[in-house]
Amino acid sequence: MNSEQSAKIETVLQEERVFEPSESVLNRYSIKGFEKYKQMFDFAKSDPDKFWGEAALRELHWFKPFHSVLDWSDPPFAKWFDGGKTNVSYNCLDRHVKEGRGSKIAIIWEGEPGEIRRISYEELFVEVCRTANALKKLGISKGDLVALYMPMVPEAAIAMLACARIGAPHSVVFGGFSSEALRDRLNDGQAKAVITADGGFRKDKIIALKEAVDRALANESCPSVKSVLVVRRTNQNISFYPDRDIWWHELIPSQSANCPPEEMESEDRLFVLYTSGSTGKPKGVVHTTAGYNLWAHLTFKWIFDVGEEEIYWCTADVGWITGHSYIVYGPLSNGVTTVMYEGVPRPSNPGAFWDLIQRHKINIFYTAPTAIRAFMKAGRSIPDMYDLSSLRLLGTVGEPINPEAWIWYKEVIGHDNCPIVDTWWQTETGGIMISPLPGATPTKPGSATLPLPGIEADVINSDGQSVEANQGGYLVIKRPWPGMMRTVHGNPQRFRENYWEYLSPIKGEHVYFAGDGARRDNDGYFWIMGRVDDVINVSGHRLGTMEIESALVSHKAVAEAAVVGRPDEIKGESIVAFVSLDSDKEASKGLLEELKAHVSNEIGSIARPQEIRFTNALPKTRSGKIMRRLLRSLAAGEEVKGDTSTLEDKNVLDQLRT
Ligand code: WTA
Repeated sequence: MNSEQSAKIETVLQEERVFEPSESVLNRYSIKGFEKYKQMFDFAKSDPDKFWGEAALRELHWFKPFHSVLDWSDPPFAKWFDGGKTNVSYNCLDRHVKEGRGSKIAIIWEGEPGEIRRISYEELFVEVCRTANALKKLGISKGDLVALYMPMVPEAAIAMLACARIGAPHSVVFGGFSSEALRDRLNDGQAKAVITADGGFRKDKIIALKEAVDRALANESCPSVKSVLVVRRTNQNISFYPDRDIWWHELIPSQSANCPPEEMESEDRLFVLYTSGSTGKPKGVVHTTAGYNLWAHLTFKWIFDVGEEEIYWCTADVGWITGHSYIVYGPLSNGVTTVMYEGVPRPSNPGAFWDLIQRHKINIFYTAPTAIRAFMKAGRSIPDMYDLSSLRLLGTVGEPINPEAWIWYKEVIGHDNCPIVDTWWQTETGGIMISPLPGATPTKPGSATLPLPGIEADVINSDGQSVEANQGGYLVIKRPWPGMMRTVHGNPQRFRENYWEYLSPIKGEHVYFAGDGARRDNDGYFWIMGRVDDVINVSGHRLGTMEIESALVSHKAVAEAAVVGRPDEIKGESIVAFVSLDSDKEASKGLLEELKAHVSNEIGSIARPQEIRFTNALPKTRSGKIMRRLLRSLAAGEEVKGDTSTLEDKNVLDQLRT
């Protein structure tokens, strides 16, 4: 581990409180008591093939059974359930309808302006079939990539399932990304079609999604895209290009509701989802059919354990992996009622979430620590105005949760009746990896607790050795699991090097490096310390510092830029950029604003730096590497600690302090 990385994992949290599952909680859950978890864990460890093989046969529908559980003969390229044929949309829809549960509500959707739609499994099934037939009509066939750039409307889930039905992998691009970012993703994936909407409601504004698609496609810049399917949502005026664009409401309703699911090989692609890494452009994380389906399904079932009459709500956006696995695939594969909400809490409606919980009598609520911290800051008087007694389980995801926020969540939102599940995982892992099982695992505020059955997690040093209890190190997974990403789209080498061989000093050994630092306490509990690479986590959104730097440098006035994260009470981290200008350019307030806007334009407003500091030069080592550790301390307003002897020009430091 280099000094940069070890500096980040030095802080050891002091948190001693332990919460055992109460008697009533114990009785409510299928996986009851710690012994039960241990049994499952030990079974999965001692005979993984049997454990996963049985689970796959039990939990998924197969058109044709698989002949092998895991083929790991060419690591890190895994094949799970080889020889088998299944279809994710079948698992999410047809089987529930066939089992006589068609009238059960699949999705409760609430729009930003307040309209509500309740869609049964039967209705969802019909809509998905019509949409799947419409996609075929647009010339999409098995293997073609379809991009989605959508607001949080049911059509987003319908489109994802329709793609899955015909075997066309989807690539969902979060609606907050700019047209530039969209264009990069469309080209990298060679998308054949884009599904979008005229606009989307975000906070009290309308975002011009279709206009962004038009800009991304302008001047033949994405030649692979042949059609654009447009959902009418906000009703604003948009440009329409009849050779390419078609309205959803004009195409879908006239399609046949009969669309047999494509029988997909286990390892056929289900989707590509772009995420930020420490180097270069965002990478397309590839997930495949059976393994991903099983992992989203099983983790959802184990952790949330949703009852037949219960209502579950995850506040993520479908543009992120949490939305994929825990709004769409996990809940629907389990036949659960899932809530989809287009809005977010904002000053004009600070109680929006609690109001929704009260009105829909939501039982399970899954959100991000950043939201909890913001609610905490606004004060308990807001949630106290609502009846939250329907809640029985609370989850968090996306970033480390500080013990104070954990306790507040438990007391103020959960009224001490709800277990808290802090779930650690990543886009790459497909589903949750480290988390309490609410009826089995004693919890500690701020710890994601223990790995799920089948997951062999460890904390190691750069020699590949497990570190002792309470020592910081790299978080790794030592064995393949069904939901693991299969490759980086178009760049298998990057997959191999960045993830599975990055921390393997012994050639031929493969451990999955997550990019996070962690420590394990005396009970073996995991405490995630955050990223040790150049990825920052702003309000649970994952961004690469390099991406933001390249966006800055692409501005004509900028010579060099370095971006770091600064600890932020609410957002987890905020973005601080150090920028040196070309010699003929002057720093000014106007330019500062222009650069912030430029980053929003290049990536999206989620990447807009909170602060930009101009400097003549960046602190570098003699070999020319930017010393980010110094910049992080400076951005946080701390004394610069540690070794600065390798700094080339010490005067630079004084300049940057201001
Ligand atoms: C961070 C989101 C601490 C972590 C599902 C990881 C967490 C990155 C937690 C992945 C958690 C996610 N505790 N940190 N419970 N959950 N993270 O790909 O740094 O958007 O590497 O997936 O979020 O972000 P991603």
